[in-house]
Amino acid sequence: MVGYVNPYLRELTPDEIAAGHHRDAVGGMWHEIGRLQRDFLVASGLRPEHRFVDVGCGALRGGIHFVAYLAPGNYHGLDLNQSLIDAGRLELKSAGLAHRRAKLLVNADFDLSPFGTTFDYGLALSVFTHIPFNSIVRCLSRVRAVLAPRGRFFATFFQSPRSAYLEPLVHERGGIRSHYDTDPFHLSFEEIGIAGQLAGLAVELIGDWNHPRDQHMLEFRHASVSPGPCHP
Ligand SMILES: C[S@@+](CC[C@H](N)C(=O)[O-])C[C@H]1O[C@@H](n2cnc3c(N)ncnc32)[C@H](O)[C@@H]1O
Repeated sequence: MVGYVNPYLRELTPDEIAAGHHRDAVGGMWHEIGRLQRDFLVASGLRPEHRFVDVGCGALRGGIHFVAYLAPGNYHGLDLNQSLIDAGRLELKSAGLAHRRAKLLVNADFDLSPFGTTFDYGLALSVFTHIPFNSIVRCLSRVRAVLAPRGRFFATFFQSPRSAYLEPLVHERGGIRSHYDTDPFHLSFEEIGIAGQLAGLAVELIGDWNHPRDQHMLEFRHASVSPGPCHP
């Protein structure tokens, strides 16, 4: 099957949000994957004083954990879906985190400039798995424009064993079936490297990080910067 319609264009109704459907809409495993992404970023050097951007933040599955960890005002989330952002605000409120000045933005072309700042750390969790190659290049180009000189941007993807892997791929852990040209997408590390290069970012494969559905982790930095500690 070939074709692509971004499934996240559909806005949830207030009734659906009240029933908690936003937690399933971003993939479920609300607590497990929420904590997993916070723990990974903290183990990778994220500190409360860092400015952090969560690209495709959805309903703040990870966001509520990052908002609790980061200093007030340091969490920034962007998503194309207004209803998921609204649900995220309700999640923040019920977690007692509404006062911590999370900055949330809605747009569909990954324009991060309205935040008016640069970022030390960033993440796109389960986002590249839902968007085609050209949109990944767009996302990375936008990230590059706001990534601090020694900033680090992490993203997950379904990894195929080689480029132009046209057959469906069943991922043993989690059982997801990914595709070359429809959602959920897979790409080779070589193809991700090309996307990074087009956006002016160097990429390193971190690989397996115990994601329950076998998404692998990537790290992007400015192409001209050698790895080293990130200081805000
Ligand atoms: C599987 S959800 C993951 C959400 C969040 N990262 C998490 O871990 O819960 C994918 C998210 O990517 C967002 N997304 C998809 N395409 C996007 C785009 N073009 N711009 C911004 N966000 C997008 C969706 O709206 C959705 O919230």
